[in-house]
Amino acid sequence: MSTAASITDEIGVNIFIEPLSKEHFFDEFDCEHQDTTDFLKDDALRYQNENIAVSWVVKDKFNVVLGYVTLSMAAIKANIPKIKLDGVSVRQYPALKIGRIGVTKEHKHRKIGKLLIMIATWKAKDLQDVVGCRHLIVDSYFDRITFYEQFGFERVESKPSGDTTKMFLLVSDV
Ligand SMILES: CC(C)(COP(=O)(O)OP(=O)(O)OC[C@H]1O[C@@H](n2cnc3c(N)ncnc32)[C@H](O)[C@@H]1OP(=O)(O)O)[C@@H](O)C(=O)NCCC(=O)NCCS
Repeated sequence: MSTAASITDEIGVNIFIEPLSKEHFFDEFDCEHQDTTDFLKDDALRYQNENIAVSWVVKDKFNVVLGYVTLSMAAIKANIPKIKLDGVSVRQYPALKIGRIGVTKEHKHRKIGKLLIMIATWKAKDLQDVVGCRHLIVDSYFDRITFYEQFGFERVESKPSGDTTKMFLLVSDV
C-alpha cells in the first residue's frame, strides 16, 4: 500500500488529516450521495461527542473538509468459511467498521477516497496493537463494490441486506 507522502503527492494539494471538529467547514460539502452528505452535516459531530463513531477528515489549509471517513468498533461473525482460523474458536472477530465515506464533488478522482481507506487501515493497525482488530469492514452499495475491491476488500458470502453487501479486508494482509 502507498505511503502517506506518496498519496499526498498523488492528490497534488496540501491536505491535512485530523478528527472532525467544530473548527472545520463543511456547509458546502456535497459528495453527491444524500445520506453521506447529510451525515457529515447533521450527525457526525454528535456521534463523535457520544463516543459512537469518529469521523476523520481530509481538509485543506483553510479548514474546508474535502472528504471524510467515519469509523466505529464492530465485529464480524466467525462462521464465514473464508475467514476461519486454525486453532482459534470464537463467535465473532473484532473489526473496525467504515460507517461512512465521502469526497466532495469538486475533489473526486484525486485519490482522496483512496487516502481515506488508507486512514481507516492505519487506524485498524493501531488498534491491533492495543485491543486486537482483525478486519476492516464496510457495508458497500452494490455499485461501489469495485471501489473497495481495488484495496483488497472481499465480499462476505452471505445474503446481502437491502441495497448493500458486507465486505471485509484482513488488516494483517495490508
Ligand atoms: C466513492 C468515493 C468516496 C470515491 O472517492 P474519490 O476520492 O473520488 O476516489 P479516488 O480518487 O480515491 O478513486 C480511486 C479509484 O477508485 C475508483 N472509484 C472511484 N469512485 C468510484 C465509485 N463511485 N465506484 C467504483 N469505483 C470508484 C476508480 O478506479 C478511481 O480511480 P480513477 O479516478 O483513476 O478512475 C466518492 O466517489 C464518493 O464520495 N461517493 C459518494 C459517497 C459514497 O458512495 N460512499 C461509499 C458508500 S459504500
